[in-house]
Amino acid sequence: MHIPADILARAERALTITPAQEDAIARQFAAAMAAGLAGEQSTLKMLPSHLGKPGGHERGLFLALDFGGSNVRVQLVELCGAGKWLVRGQTAAPLRDPAGAYDHTAAAASEEQLFDFLAAQIAPLVGDGRDYYLGHTFSFPSRQPDLGSAILLGWTKEIKTAGVEGREVSSLLAAALARRELAHVRPVAVINDTVGTLLAAAYRDPAADIAAICGTGHNTCYYDAGRGTIINMESGNFATLPLSSWDDILDAASGHPGAQRLEKAAAGRYLGEIARLIIADAGGETGPPYSLTAEDLAGWLAGPDGPRRRLAALVAGRSARLVAATFRGVLDHIDPHRKNRHTIAIDGSLYEKMPGYAGMLAAALGISPVLVKDGSGAGAAIAAALAVSRR
Ligand code: BGC
Repeated sequence: MHIPADILARAERALTITPAQEDAIARQFAAAMAAGLAGEQSTLKMLPSHLGKPGGHERGLFLALDFGGSNVRVQLVELCGAGKWLVRGQTAAPLRDPAGAYDHTAAAASEEQLFDFLAAQIAPLVGDGRDYYLGHTFSFPSRQPDLGSAILLGWTKEIKTAGVEGREVSSLLAAALARRELAHVRPVAVINDTVGTLLAAAYRDPAADIAAICGTGHNTCYYDAGRGTIINMESGNFATLPLSSWDDILDAASGHPGAQRLEKAAAGRYLGEIARLIIADAGGETGPPYSLTAEDLAGWLAGPDGPRRRLAALVAGRSARLVAATFRGVLDHIDPHRKNRHTIAIDGSLYEKMPGYAGMLAAALGISPVLVKDGSGAGAAIAAALAVSRR
């Protein structure tokens, strides 16, 4: 794939975030948080999770269902207390069959098909006659009337399954479990994946109070000490950003134009497409939309120096700087004078696997976040434990 030098210069101008722009993003992000919390018009939904931080002593065996994008995973998690847990069993399956036999994320797929598929992944783990409490990591913007229920506000990450938007997902899951005669599995908590990551981090480290996903999608939550609850900001929808014409083209062709502008500039689902649009703009030969992926960019970054590596570094580096600026906005909101220690927990394939990404993010932020995996497993189990302890 040929990448002309003049497009690299243009891309560099359009994708570089200056320190002054970083300051402005942080300031505007903090202002959007305040507006969202006050119930005013804001790009940040600021959704209460009805969960505080765990104490680290929660115990028991719980089911953790993770549905957040391309795969579904179910884990049997034993919380051992003292900040430790063990995974006792696991199933996983893609929502989109690589061989093309099914796609439960397409507009042609129905709510029943999707939730029956989730129930089918749970079945092999619960055949021993015991009752199970289940924590469900559901990684989409949802309004939660309480810890046990979540109403999907709208799909993100280009998922399109029919009949789920506007519905309460715990009852959809319970209905699918009943259809499969798995009524002894009781969904008791629904959480966002950012919240699961914060729960898993705080189970071991009381200083953890901000958590984010930098993976297929992007989002951040934080512990609001004044309100005593973790708040899912749905920060992927933040939009006061210095974006390029390529971002606008990507947005216009996406499933929900105008929505999730930060996510479309920063998350793994979109980074390859940004690079492809830049190459296509220079008259380069590219495949169809989304044929270039974040994995391709990771390969370029790990390869020899040259136009490809430089383009990948620009696209990935901008993502890291945008995300770091929003973290500064959160810190400015919760602790403007930096009086306390803050652990920022991050999970996601982009943060974990894109060469140089974690380093660029730490450099832009001035502190190093910690990688916390299994928020959707341990985190969901902790949420279920907290739900049961309230009964
Ligand atoms: C969703 C968030 C989620 C993030 C990471 C976004 O598309 O709206 O709820 O936390 O992806 O999975």
